[in-house]
Amino acid sequence: MAADLKSAVRPQAKPGAPIMSVRDLRILFPTRDGRDTVKAVDGVDFDVRAGETLGIIGESGSGKTTLGRAMVSLIAPTEGEILHSGQNPAKMGREQFRKHRRDYQIVFQDPNAALNPRMTILDSVIEPAEIAKEGDDTSRRKDGFAALSRVGLPRELADRYPHQLSGGQKQRVNIARVLMLRPKVIVCDEVVAALDVSIRGDILNLFADLQREFGLTYVFITHDISVVSHISDRIAVTYLGKLMELGAAEDVIERPLHPYTQALLSAEPIPLPSSMRTERRIVLEGEIPSPVAPPSGCRFRTRCPSVQAICAKDVPSWRELKPGHWAACHFSTLDGPPPANADLNHTK
Ligand SMILES: Nc1ncnc2c1ncn2[C@@H]1O[C@H](COP(=O)(O)OP(=O)(O)O)[C@@H](O)[C@H]1O
Ligand code: SF4
Ligand SMILES: [Mg+2]
Repeated sequence: MAADLKSAVRPQAKPGAPIMSVRDLRILFPTRDGRDTVKAVDGVDFDVRAGETLGIIGESGSGKTTLGRAMVSLIAPTEGEILHSGQNPAKMGREQFRKHRRDYQIVFQDPNAALNPRMTILDSVIEPAEIAKEGDDTSRRKDGFAALSRVGLPRELADRYPHQLSGGQKQRVNIARVLMLRPKVIVCDEVVAALDVSIRGDILNLFADLQREFGLTYVFITHDISVVSHISDRIAVTYLGKLMELGAAEDVIERPLHPYTQALLSAEPIPLPSSMRTERRIVLEGEIPSPVAPPSGCRFRTRCPSVQAICAKDVPSWRELKPGHWAACHFSTLDGPPPANADLNHTK
């Protein structure tokens, strides 16, 4: 059965070529009282390469979900653009967009978000193909059973309803739903965050297997560093609507260049690589500021252990400090983030 799904896979972009290009993206929302603006995404530039898993990490409120939804055309950019294999979906005609959007899918954190409680599991899985006007009843049922089997769900579950399934089973149903559309890219927004810790690994392994089988590209959004480090080829670090760092996963985790990444890694209660076990743990203090009025200059300055006077004045530029490894800090070098001020005082 799974062979049917596989043979239906459409050609993917050349591995490594940009399959999505985010250009000077800003997404602003009015505040609830309408008097102000939430700068959810505030000037972001990066590519997603075909066949890779790009992890996006950052604390809650840093704009990850807004960015992910914009990447699959669920939210329109306020400024800038998001290209899909060089094409701008916002400029497509209705029919072209309808065909195009199935290539770029999203799976949400809440396993119930996309499931209709009154529809059987099989009907939920088939629904996207029906909306895309693909095949007929018989072929859709056949593909629906194949998709259920591919995500590891037994045939008996097909006639059940969402409330009869566990969270992990429901998330498998959501994955089967997007597989029905044979997408090129799947944005995964905190897809294991709502699940029991004991089954997170199984779902992550399923994503990894499907990527190999179908040549998928993933954008894996999470606030959990152990999840991104497990699954990503590259990692982007977001803070208050901006990117702080982007590079190969191993470099970002083991040799971060930005003080925010370093602080995030220190705050994680997971075993860290030996290079990260510093004597003095840098722990994030305080809350993330409001995206309605982000700090001037460098947004991280109100919590940065290395802050200097210039950080309140000038926005740090997005610099490629090593090939493919970018950071936005006035003082980062290719050797790493600047020393914490306390360390500087100590050595005086
Ligand atoms: N539709 C909306 N209207 C107003 N504010 C929003 C809307 N969606 C998100 N926000 C705000 O934008 C900021 C970023 O949110 P979000 O993208 O959900 O971040 P994350 O996923 O990193 O937690 C938050 O302050 C959030 O309250
Ligand atoms: S620019 Fe300044 S405040 Fe921002 S991360 Fe670098 S040292 Fe810290
Ligand atoms: Mg989110």
